[in-house]
Amino acid sequence: MAQRVRKAVLPVAGLGTRFLPATKAMPKEMLTVVDRPLIQYAVEECLAAGIEEFVFVTGRNKGALEDHFDLAYELEATLEQRKKTAELKQSQDATIKAGNAIFTRQQKPLGLGHAVWCARHWIGNEPFAVLLPDELTLDTPTCIGQLVAAHDKTGGSVVAVMDVPREQTKSYGIAAVKAEKDGLAEITGLVEKPRPEEAPSTLALIGRYVLLPEVLGHLDRHETGAGGEIQLTDAIARMIGGPPLHALRYAGRRYDCGSRLGFLEANVAIALDRADTAAETRALLGRLMKG
Ligand code: UTP
Repeated sequence: MAQRVRKAVLPVAGLGTRFLPATKAMPKEMLTVVDRPLIQYAVEECLAAGIEEFVFVTGRNKGALEDHFDLAYELEATLEQRKKTAELKQSQDATIKAGNAIFTRQQKPLGLGHAVWCARHWIGNEPFAVLLPDELTLDTPTCIGQLVAAHDKTGGSVVAVMDVPREQTKSYGIAAVKAEKDGLAEITGLVEKPRPEEAPSTLALIGRYVLLPEVLGHLDRHETGAGGEIQLTDAIARMIGGPPLHALRYAGRRYDCGSRLGFLEANVAIALDRADTAAETRALLGRLMKG
């Protein structure tokens, strides 16, 4: 039987250059979609999948992330005193249980693979999830929940993929796969940021992974790949031919909040989706489109 996935690594040490100047003093993952920061969506996605332990791999200027998931004693005491129950709940919901989150620093932004490697001692010898919080996914069951279910079935590593236009392959890790069955396909090749003419397919990795701990051994080598960075995709590629390794086609909604337009789209889409903001947002958009 597959080992249960209990832990998630949230790499949040990137420089966020596409969001300067917003990210000069504040982490990209604290950018707000409607009323909650990106990082909270990722944590909630994990909790819904039964994953309750988190390691945040952070860098400089990331203190706000740690504070966000802490108990905000003064704020909550004041809200309680003022009988602001709904607001109090919003704050309490953004807390991670004591002892269930740790924060470690990547020190140098050497790449996503290196960021995951920085969490190695905490991961130990069990399967673990990785979520890139600037990719926002919305679905029930959650994207990471779907990967966990696939891992339970195969006992191996599973990465989420989506089709992208061929001209965009150079922004993603791209998977070559065998025939797909129920959205799941064995991976035969993985390449990070290939040029469109060299890409083995248009199936892009979208920042959601369930990985066997063997990947850490490959990351130990600190080999650099595309862009001179230590790439997670390359370490996963070294597992091809070993324990089961599958791509799961994710069919839900996904927003690339690491880009300005994707971030704007996420804000509008989620505001239109939520019962408390839908009507007002629709009216607002109508007014703006007319003007
Ligand atoms: P990105 O490729 O989006 O890079 O990283 P970035 O630095 O965050 O943003 P831009 O491109 O400069 O605007 C994908 C994910 O990997 C993490 C990032 O925090 C993000 O979640 N990452 C990347 C690290 O944790 N460390 C790294 O060295 C690189």
